Amino acid sequence: MHHNIAALIVAAGRGTRAGGDLPKQWRELAGRSVLEHTLDAFRRAGIKRIILVIHPDDREKANRLVAPDVTLVNGGDTRVTSVRAALESLVTDAPQHVLIHDGARPLVSASVINDVRDALRHAEGAAPALPVVDALWRGTDGHVAAAVPRAGLFRAQTPQGFGFSFILQAHRAYEGEAADDVEIARAAGMEIVMTPGCEDNIKLTYQADFDRAERLITHRQERDM
Ligand code: CTP
Ligand code: MG
Repeated sequence: MHHNIAALIVAAGRGTRAGGDLPKQWRELAGRSVLEHTLDAFRRAGIKRIILVIHPDDREKANRLVAPDVTLVNGGDTRVTSVRAALESLVTDAPQHVLIHDGARPLVSASVINDVRDALRHAEGAAPALPVVDALWRGTDGHVAAAVPRAGLFRAQTPQGFGFSFILQAHRAYEGEAADDVEIARAAGMEIVMTPGCEDNIKLTYQADFDRAERLITHRQERDM
């Protein structure tokens, strides 16, 4: 018997914007790798089946994370192809739902995960979002061209949850680049509900994000003591 829901954690990127000796998902944050934090966040939320999508060059490091609840899959050259590889790997023992998450978001909370999961009881897809609060501009070469109305605009986070067969079909029908899986789901006409995002659920992208994440984790550990 398989579990009803699987988390698919994409971690096959090279982290060019963050720089450093190691791809960002393998760097240390408060004494453990970014991916160990990410895996634990899903375990704390009660997820029992995790597919970790890795770059073939990272196989040796990734082998240390293999566990009864964690399977490795090789990713592709883009985020889209990495997700697609993981979805295809599940076809022979398909879960009912999948949660697709950026490995580079180690601070995701159990409540963000559970809100997405709960929304899937009634929705084809669900994803955490936060309303944009800053003013928005379109600009070029250091000059502001025009203000962009921010009403109705949201910042998208992960995990993004879907019915497995829906998102598999959406991916198979999709060609080209996409920033996330909601974009692919919408291209296939799926209905996606927004659940509450969290300011702390940052995607490690630049070096400065590591300092912020370290502070957030330390703060959490002190709070939980
Ligand atoms: N990702 C992936 N396979 C790729 C590209 C990205 O699995 N071919 C994953 C990354 O590992 C990351 C998530 O998708 O967890 C979000 O991507 P991003 O933050 O852009 O990470 P990178 O692509 O690694 O970073 P950069 O764009 O700076 O190179
Ligand atoms: Mg990238």
